[in-house]
Order: sequence, then structure tokens, then C-alpha cells
Amino acid sequence: MKDYSQLINEAIRVRENSYSPYSGFKVGASVLCKNGKIYTGCNVENSAYSECLCAERVALSKAISEGECEFLAISVVGGKQKITDFVYPCGACRQFLSELCPPQLEVVLFNGKETKITTLDSLLPSSFNKFSIK
Ligand code: THU
Repeated sequence: MKDYSQLINEAIRVRENSYSPYSGFKVGASVLCKNGKIYTGCNVENSAYSECLCAERVALSKAISEGECEFLAISVVGGKQKITDFVYPCGACRQFLSELCPPQLEVVLFNGKETKITTLDSLLPSSFNKFSIK
């Protein structure tokens, strides 16, 4: 198994910046680019609930806006207080990732104890994507 400890630690660190007064659920995400750079993001909520931003989309948008276009992995951690369970990207984030990342993107989850690695393709099989609208 690849060593994703730095990527996970970045997600844990940025999670502390979560702005989540409505759910109390703090999420951190970190994206690993092919060039080795890491971009991070946390969830940012809003009193108009539908405007809440997920951590994954914040992290990936930060990377894209800095000109990055090749991604290897994303790590996600979350929880109300401590990190005790694996937090999977929501459906909207899976779709968002599928636009910008390869199907073999590694999705690295951490529950405070153990690491689980899956892929975008296994989380969103048979996706509707940019190749679907040719
Ligand atoms: N959240 C994320 O940041 N990522 C996900 O993939 C799932 C949900 C956030 C949105 C909201 O701020 C809080 O977690 C509770 O749903």
C-alpha cells in the first residue's frame, strides 16, 4: 500500500478550519497532484443551506484554479468531534471529481485508526461524464 500519511495529515490539519456551524460536521480534504503538490480544503457552510461547499470540491477547485490538471489521489476525513468513521465523498462530489480526475483516482479514507483506499471509478461506476456528451 502506498504511503499516504502526508496527504491524510494535510486533510486532518485543514479540517480544523471547517466552517460548519449548522451541521457541526467538520470535513477536510487534500488532493495530490501528479507533480507532488498537495491542495487542501474544508467544508464551508452557509445559512442558506443549499450554498454549503463540501471539502472535496473546495480542495479540487483550489488546485484547478492554480493551474493543476493531473491528479493522483484525494484524501477525505470527517466527523463531529473526533475522526472515528470513514467519510465517503457525497454523490455531488463524486460527480464533480469525475469531471476533473481520472477514474483510477485513489480516494484515501481515514477513520482515525485505519486507512481505506478505493477509487473514483468504484465509487461512481458507469458515470455520466464529458465523454457522454460527444
Ligand atoms: N460534506 C463534505 O464536506 N463532503 C462530503 O463529501 C460530505 C458532506 C459536508 C457538507 C456539510 O457541510 C457537512 O459535511 C454535513 O453534511
